[in-house]
Amino acid sequence: MLRRLHPEQPASFAFTPDNQKWAEAQIQKYPEGRAASAIIPLLWRAQEQHGWLTRPAIEHVADMLGMAYIRALEVATFYFMFQLQPVGSVAHFQICGTTSCMIMGAEDLVAVCKKKIASKAHQLSEDGKFSWEEVECLGACTNAPMAQIGKDYYEDLTPAGLEKMIDDMAKGEVPLPGPANGRYTSEPKSGLTALTEGEREHQYNGSVQRAHDIGDTLKRIDGTEVPFCAPWLDKAADHGSRLSSQAEAAAEAPAVKPVADDSVAKPETDISKPVAEENKGDVVVSDADKPATLAAARDGQADDLKLIKGVGPKLEQMLNGMGFFHFDQVAAWTDKELAWVDQNLEGFKGRASRDEWVSQAQKLAAGEETEFAARAKKDGIYDN
Ligand code: FES
Repeated sequence: MLRRLHPEQPASFAFTPDNQKWAEAQIQKYPEGRAASAIIPLLWRAQEQHGWLTRPAIEHVADMLGMAYIRALEVATFYFMFQLQPVGSVAHFQICGTTSCMIMGAEDLVAVCKKKIASKAHQLSEDGKFSWEEVECLGACTNAPMAQIGKDYYEDLTPAGLEKMIDDMAKGEVPLPGPANGRYTSEPKSGLTALTEGEREHQYNGSVQRAHDIGDTLKRIDGTEVPFCAPWLDKAADHGSRLSSQAEAAAEAPAVKPVADDSVAKPETDISKPVAEENKGDVVVSDADKPATLAAARDGQADDLKLIKGVGPKLEQMLNGMGFFHFDQVAAWTDKELAWVDQNLEGFKGRASRDEWVSQAQKLAAGEETEFAARAKKDGIYDN
């Protein structure tokens, strides 16, 4: 099946403030320079917020992660979990049509969808509230036939039950996810024959209980559903305060120069702080650490900064916009100035130190060739 962007797209996308905070916290789970690893959760959250994945949403996520748009688009078009066209405002039914579900009546469920929603998959119902599609096995075969809506599973479905579910949803009701035939998870409907001791802590299985408790089934996710919880940020803050205590102790001892120790894992940054105030690892930087800049290239002739590995056309433009045009400017950055630049590369934070721009620029400023520069000149390759 061809997966293309929908021809009609909204003008823009922005996460809600709570979702933005959530998304930025997800990025902090990954090591510096590896923000792209957060792409699937961020795209998924964008879809949960908007209902389907729009081009502005994909580009917004790509910008947050410092990725080229095409890389984000590759992910969005590869995974079928991402809806690239508008879906029903209330629910998009994903009916499993694989073997177990087919044997247990999936085709009858599809017939209900065709009758009650739209004759073809991915079409909206007349009232715009529903849409449907057939998907491959969703891993709930013991509860066949089943359908997924959002992140919830509706299992042991019957055609009559599905018709009623659609009618109920149209009236604003929210059916409980899980088995529709009254059994607990995938236990026998006739009752347990083994492992019968003990009492259950919950009325439903874990995911159904959670959906029930926080009431987010069917709802667009705006980030306010549950209290914001990102324990890994607290750990990073602890780590950060430990490092700053070490830095304070080092500052008090005159014989010890308080320089960055690369053997110490760098703490995560506080995402709520403006870039210029962020604590970059164990190097605290402020606007006073901004390197010297130029209003324009000397003699109107800028160096080709793309010969530095890690600098592509977009970053070169950004560097020029910041007042950096020449290899010797980059070559002269001190550790703190490098940290300042790292923190102010919007969408590419950490790139300057990760790719060792200073040592590359020192060679290029001295008229030497780097391996990357030689290749870039020969093949015209650039990093982004
Ligand atoms: S066959 Fe339908 S969930 Fe596996």
